[in-house]
Amino acid sequence: MAHHLLLHYKEEPFYYIKARESLMERVMTCGADILASPGFQSERGFMQHGMTTCYTHSICVAYVALRWAQLLHLNIDVRSTVRGCLLHDYFLYDWHDKSAAVDHHTFNHPKVALRNAERDFELNDVERDMIRKHMFPLCFPFPKYKESWLITVADKTCAASEIWHLWSLENVISALDSRIKALCG
Ligand SMILES: [Fe+2]
Ligand SMILES: [Fe+2]
Repeated sequence: MAHHLLLHYKEEPFYYIKARESLMERVMTCGADILASPGFQSERGFMQHGMTTCYTHSICVAYVALRWAQLLHLNIDVRSTVRGCLLHDYFLYDWHDKSAAVDHHTFNHPKVALRNAERDFELNDVERDMIRKHMFPLCFPFPKYKESWLITVADKTCAASEIWHLWSLENVISALDSRIKALCG
C-alpha cells in the first residue's frame, strides 16, 4: 500500500490543484510542445464560435477545465486534462466552409480531431477518450474517465461564453498568448 502511494506520488499522475496555484502556469508547462507546434498554431486561422478561433477556444477549455477541477476539488490527471483539452478540436479546418469540413461536423469532428492528434502527438488513453467523447451528450459513447466528463463541462462552458458573451477570459488568454509566441520563437 505504502509502495503504491509512493509510486503515485513520484509519478504524480493525479493532482489536487491548490486554490492559489496558477492555472496559467499549469497550461503552459503541461502543454508547451502542443502550444508551440505548427498544427496547433494553425488553429489561429480557423474560427470556432462567434469571433473566437479554435486556438483561443482550446486554450480557454484547458484553463476552464482546471478551474472547474479546482472549484470542485477534483483529484485529476492535470497533464492529460490540459493536453486533451488543447487537442479536443484539432480537426484543422474552418467548419463554416462546407467544402473543407467533414460531413455532419458536429457529430464527426471528434473523430477527425483524434486522428490528427494521433498523427502529430503521443497520446495516452485519457487524452484519447477526452478528444473522442468531448461532445457528449450530443455524441455517444459515454465518457470513461473523470477528465473526459470534465472536458464535456468545460467545452460547453466556453462555447456558451463565446456564443453569448457571458464573460471573458481575455486577460488570461492575452497573457498566455504572449508567452506562447515567445515559445514559438
Ligand atoms: Fe468540439
Ligand atoms: Fe470545443
